[in-house]
Amino acid sequence: MAAILFDGAAIARQTYARLAERIHALGQRGIQPGLAAVLLGDSPVSQIYVRNKVRACVAAGLHSEVRKLDADCSEDALLTTIDQLNRSKRIHGIIVQLPLPSHLDAKRILQSVAVEKDVDGFSWHNLGALVEGHPTLVPCTPLGVMIMLDHAGITIEGRHAVVVGRSNIVGKPMALLLIARGATVTVCNSKTQDLGKYTAMADILIAAAGKPRLVTGEMVKTGAAIIDVGINRLPEGKLVGDVDFESVESRASWISPVPGGVGPMTVAMLIANTVTAAEHHVGQSRI
Ligand code: GUN
Repeated sequence: MAAILFDGAAIARQTYARLAERIHALGQRGIQPGLAAVLLGDSPVSQIYVRNKVRACVAAGLHSEVRKLDADCSEDALLTTIDQLNRSKRIHGIIVQLPLPSHLDAKRILQSVAVEKDVDGFSWHNLGALVEGHPTLVPCTPLGVMIMLDHAGITIEGRHAVVVGRSNIVGKPMALLLIARGATVTVCNSKTQDLGKYTAMADILIAAAGKPRLVTGEMVKTGAAIIDVGINRLPEGKLVGDVDFESVESRASWISPVPGGVGPMTVAMLIANTVTAAEHHVGQSRI
């Protein structure tokens, strides 16, 4: 039997509808949540990501700003820009679009974003809170995945979740969120030997290794829920995930497509985190 599709776009629309009430309530107190994106260089992929984030802000009624800097800008220039945004009254959330050029110390840059404006959830403060099991501002993609699982009514507590990928943006925070909800979690990566041995044990499988079609049908358990965070462009131009959709679909109970699965949820969670940060700013603390 074919799996049911996680419809990320539809769940994102519901998320925006719920956020509208919180944005309206902030508006009544004279606050318009504001998001700033810092974009270095002219990578087409980063430009598309930032454009989608700005569009989502505008559609949700948020203020948005994009600070564009040259790819060869100095670390001081970038830190000065972030400092200005940290102080700005109009801005409640700041993202520095990744990847950064290699001459910059990404760790130092990301940690310079004020923790209460860190809507990517990359600061050590916010990551530490997640480790402790008290999530504050949580990285957007893993947060979106959790909402997709909940929306589908998939039980997390007591289940075996396997995360393929160990990035700071997705794999590690994803594992922490699943642990906080009582799953038994195995974290693999693209170099894990005999990867299929682990993925075949997953009731919930999150693929986030950045390797096209890494997970194939014989590697998954019948009835598993599969979320594909990968987005890879093949040489012929086609976009595919980390999961081989055709072979996995017939075995899984749920599967997220690429595109149209996790992507819209990542952006929706960025807007949600910005609203949360604005609420925190006016003392309606959710952080
Ligand atoms: N580049 C790819 N994904 C992300 C993300 O979630 N946040 C930022 N800032 N950059 C990214």
